[in-house]
Amino acid sequence: MANTLTCQEKYNFDITPDYFKKYNIYPTSPKLCLLAFLNYEYYNEYIPEAIENNYKKIEQKYLAKLPFDYKEKVKKVKEGMKTNQEFFSKIANLYIDQFNYVQLSNKQIDNYQYQEQSFIGKVFLELLIREWAEEGKEERSKSITPVIQELKKYYNYENKSLMEEGVKVLNIGMRFGRVAYELAKLGYYVEANESSYLYLLISNYLFNYSKKNENCICPRISSFCSSFTEESVTKKHYFPDVDIISDLKNVKKDNIKITKRDFEIEYKDKKELFDCVITVFSTDETYNKINFTEIVNNVLKKGGIWINIGGLESVNSEYGGIELTWEEWKHVIIKCGFQFLREEKPVIPYCKIEGHSLPFTLGAIFFTAKKI
Ligand SMILES: C[S@@+](CC[C@H](N)C(=O)[O-])C[C@H]1O[C@@H](n2cnc3c(N)ncnc32)[C@H](O)[C@@H]1O
Repeated sequence: MANTLTCQEKYNFDITPDYFKKYNIYPTSPKLCLLAFLNYEYYNEYIPEAIENNYKKIEQKYLAKLPFDYKEKVKKVKEGMKTNQEFFSKIANLYIDQFNYVQLSNKQIDNYQYQEQSFIGKVFLELLIREWAEEGKEERSKSITPVIQELKKYYNYENKSLMEEGVKVLNIGMRFGRVAYELAKLGYYVEANESSYLYLLISNYLFNYSKKNENCICPRISSFCSSFTEESVTKKHYFPDVDIISDLKNVKKDNIKITKRDFEIEYKDKKELFDCVITVFSTDETYNKINFTEIVNNVLKKGGIWINIGGLESVNSEYGGIELTWEEWKHVIIKCGFQFLREEKPVIPYCKIEGHSLPFTLGAIFFTAKKI
């Protein structure tokens, strides 16, 4: 694969270095992401070390009762991490020249302890499975599929004249882009927004370069105690489960666009542009749901709809995000000029991989609201 990438490509990922340091807690620059990707194994080497050290402390009489040799286990963890490193390196190598990334010494690397470094572990990889692997299909069917079915109810893609006119959909918080892909494939004009380069660099690769099931990762490689079998821990997962490039080959260049800034900055002055806004587990990362709701209202055309599915949590509440009950947020949504067309409280799995014993299910809110 080519080492360089000047991503002005097909799907308009115009990635340029742009330091996003809002709130000073989530620095997401391309260079820091490359640093994290290229040094994944290095940043996580404490994991197999800790497993090994913990077993070493146990007396031989206990070790003898185990069905395995712990050294083999440590070896498997290292192998799984090597698989993950190969994937991350493949991504990083695409962008090294574009962002003038220069490899650092270990001492320099140690100085960067940003969120990116600690973030690209287990959960990050599970999120990739959720969106792009066959194993995430059931989960997607409970969050992405219902939202798309709801959209089709109001803007039916089989209605030729409507689609010729163009139905414009904005997806805020696209993460790795699965929602955007599904929408573009159906013929909608999609604009998807994401502010983290961790996701942008990978989705850019998936949309423009990757073949079906070409990539392999081991997301659960260190989760022995929360898994039923060793097989589920060491399992290699392949993705993407679809041929993105060929599925989107008839989609016009301008029909799918990715915007890469904080959505509050990107959309604060944009008005009446979209027929629909789709948010799938996006509002739980916002600091201010009132502002979020106002922006969604502003970017929608009159009569346009907002379809949302996701949790109510405010994951950033400890960093200054405000927490609202559903009752309070619903009040805000109405005050901002929406009328509710649908409101449900489904329970939805999130990053729930087979063989894992923890019940990652969330009480969510699924609503459709029309701008009046
Ligand atoms: C919970 S995820 C959504 C995930 C995805 N739609 C899914 O169903 O798995 C929220 C996404 O919004 C992004 N995000 C958070 N704050 C943002 C902001 N202010 N502007 C743009 N994107 C943001 C995060 O990087 C993350 O990818």
